[in-house]
Order: sequence, then C-alpha cells, then structure tokens
Amino acid sequence: MQNTLEPIVDYSWTELERRVAARMTAKRFAHCQRTSAEAVKLAQRFGGDVLRAQVGGLVHDYAKQIPDEDFIAAIHAHHLPAALLDYGNAIWHGMVGIYFIEDELAIHDPAILQAVKEHTTGAPEMPLLSQIVYMADFIEPGRKFPGVDEARAVTQQSLQAGVLYQLSHELSYLVEKQEPIYPLTFTSYNAWVRRVGQPRADK
Ligand SMILES: [Fe+2]
Ligand SMILES: [Fe+2]
Repeated sequence: MQNTLEPIVDYSWTELERRVAARMTAKRFAHCQRTSAEAVKLAQRFGGDVLRAQVGGLVHDYAKQIPDEDFIAAIHAHHLPAALLDYGNAIWHGMVGIYFIEDELAIHDPAILQAVKEHTTGAPEMPLLSQIVYMADFIEPGRKFPGVDEARAVTQQSLQAGVLYQLSHELSYLVEKQEPIYPLTFTSYNAWVRRVGQPRADK
C-alpha cells in the first residue's frame, strides 16, 4: 500500500484511514479496508488506476453511518432530485455520500467520486474505476452470501460479466425482500444485460 496520496489529497494514507475509521464501527471499517485491498487487486488485474482503486475502495462506505437527517439536509442543500427522498440510506450513502467525502475528506477526484456514487446502484455506463470499486465491494473476502464464489469466479474471468452478475443479484434480492428498487438500478441492469448478457435458452 502506498502512503502518499498525492495528487488525490495532500495528506497520507494513514491519515485517510484514521478519518474513515472515525466515522464508522470497527466492523464496517474492516469491510472498507478489505474492499480497498480487493480493488487494488482488480485494478492490477484489469489495468485500472491502482491508487484511485485503493482510495475509492476505502471511502466507498464513508457515509454509511451518517444519520438520515443529515442526508435529507444534504439532498436539499445540493438541490438533488426530490425523488431521492423516497429512498433511504442504502441509496443515499453512495449518491449523496460523495458530498460528505468532498467536505470532510477533501477528496474531489471526479473518478473516485463517481465510483462511490455508482457503487449502490451501478450505472448504465460505468468507467473502469467504478466497475472495480463496485465489484470489490461485492466480492471482498469477508463476503459470505450464497453465490459469492460464483461471483468471484465470474469477475476473475471478466469484470464486466461481474458487474452484470451483481446487478442481477441485487434486483433478485430486492424483489425477494419486496423492497422498492431505485430506477437507476433497472436502467443499469438493462444496459449491462445488453452489453454482456447471454440469454439462457434453458430458462
Ligand atoms: Fe455501500
Ligand atoms: Fe460496502
């Protein structure tokens, strides 16, 4: 792990870890560290920006434990779409979380912010760094859900196929739990299934 984070921020990796850890439980921080390490591996494998993967992985859940009222205030302050108010932390910590990352961590790197923003819903067009952080969050070694081994294997073969795997998994999971689905998750799925999907004749 590299300790200097220039040109992203003018403070060190150790300081970034300290700031992120201060905003969350030890358990969640450990997930962020594992996501960062997994993102570095994926960046090395698929030719991504390793430093941005390291930072993006660490900060992706920075806002996960920020209170709802602070998110609601941020949605108003930044004039974000009012439809966001119909959702909750699961959507906000990515899409709205980036404003806390900018304010509190002084990270303004567009690719990192985009990756954090897209890690909860995916996006129809995700740049490589967004794909890396999205998949690292899903397959880091602490993940235990049914299908995680398949997700890891698919992702090692093709990062893009991994993205589609996760979007499909996310949609199925939300439907199963009878939870509302943020529309961007649908449009993301449609874009990725057209890009890399292979319709299954046997289903
Ligand atoms: Fe997250
Ligand atoms: Fe996460």
